[in-house]
Amino acid sequence: MSEQKKFSGFSSIAIHGGHTQDPNYAHLTPIYASSTYVYDNAEQGMRRFSGKEDGFIYSRWGNPTMAEAEEKICALETFGIKTATGQSLEVKGILHGSGMAAISSLFLATLKSGDKILSHYSLYGGTQEMLDKVLPDLGIESVIVDLRNLEVAETALKKDRSIRMIYLETPANPTIQCVDIDELTKMGKRYNCIIACDNTFATPYLQQPFRVGVDYIVHSTTKFLNGHGTAIGGILMGRDVEFMKTRVTKTHRLLGGNSNPFDAFLLINGMKTLEVRMERHCANAMKIAQYLNSHTAIATVHYNGLPDHPDHKLTMKQMRLPGAMMSIVLKGGLNGGVNLMNQLKMCTRTVSLGTCDTLLSHPASMTHFGVPKEQREQYGITDGLIRMSIGMENVEDIQEDLEQALK
Ligand SMILES: Cc1ncc(COP(=O)(O)O)c(C=O)c1O
Repeated sequence: MSEQKKFSGFSSIAIHGGHTQDPNYAHLTPIYASSTYVYDNAEQGMRRFSGKEDGFIYSRWGNPTMAEAEEKICALETFGIKTATGQSLEVKGILHGSGMAAISSLFLATLKSGDKILSHYSLYGGTQEMLDKVLPDLGIESVIVDLRNLEVAETALKKDRSIRMIYLETPANPTIQCVDIDELTKMGKRYNCIIACDNTFATPYLQQPFRVGVDYIVHSTTKFLNGHGTAIGGILMGRDVEFMKTRVTKTHRLLGGNSNPFDAFLLINGMKTLEVRMERHCANAMKIAQYLNSHTAIATVHYNGLPDHPDHKLTMKQMRLPGAMMSIVLKGGLNGGVNLMNQLKMCTRTVSLGTCDTLLSHPASMTHFGVPKEQREQYGITDGLIRMSIGMENVEDIQEDLEQALK
């Protein structure tokens, strides 16, 4: 985390952050494919287990390749952020086997039976299902409201004093709605809440929730951070380093949702190009959104970079650029959407996001299949909605492919 002091630019941290010289002088951090670590003698093993000596013990608990990925993401999420006393902000991150594993550790390490979570009504389908189907059996209920309306948010907090966490995802999957991280964090603190934010769609290049005082950030590293669609992964980061090292580490280790050295290696190398990738993704997304917005076959384009998007002003307040995710509704409804997907010649029909190529998916039948139709529609995830992750191809080729598919 000392990288913040050494480098003045985001890409320098993305490339060098978290790296330590390999003892065998390998240029890139090797894939440490070892489940366990040895000791010089029994006393050293005892010191490591008791925490009196630093060092790796067992790969479910940590591993040198995974540690570099953790350090790099923490350095990016805290880049340029100072504490009230003028120090560089330090946070601790724990790499997980998936975004959902990181989200599970967050909830289980910080909440207990009787606590409630306040969240917005557009969330990744898996998170929504976790709130609806898993946590209630553990006595943790959710209050889902439109968090874009700050009065509604405050009324919910006033009404129910068992709300212990505000869980944000912004921009949200798949409607691209944005919520005000700064205002909701300030409000949440007044009600003694933990504030957590899923920063997957934005990445730290576009938005740094720690800057406005958020307590925890989660990512599905599967997406833009990895950038190439080569590995599933997640990270949970927290600003209370002591709590992260104790309660959260214990929860993570016992749940066993650990990452692995190969996926961490892919992630480390993918992240090196994050800034240049995001710049290209975002430039392409803006051009494609403008093109689709004037297309006669399209009823609605949900892209927070368009000036008429309801969250455009907020987007420009809290994000460097509006991102590369958008969703569209065709005038032909579901059939129109199916037709578009089937006619694609270059863009890819698949779920997930954040890869080099442009991806199109149908949330109602794919990522949000597990969310009941009535609830989905209330949240704006209609049958005709198509989600797009705009890639880094030459933008003319993306546009041409969409043009021929929309005929
Ligand atoms: C915003 C968001 N958060 C979390 C997740 C879950 O991540 P993973 O699939 O890596 O478990 C996803 C997956 O699509 C997502 O889009």
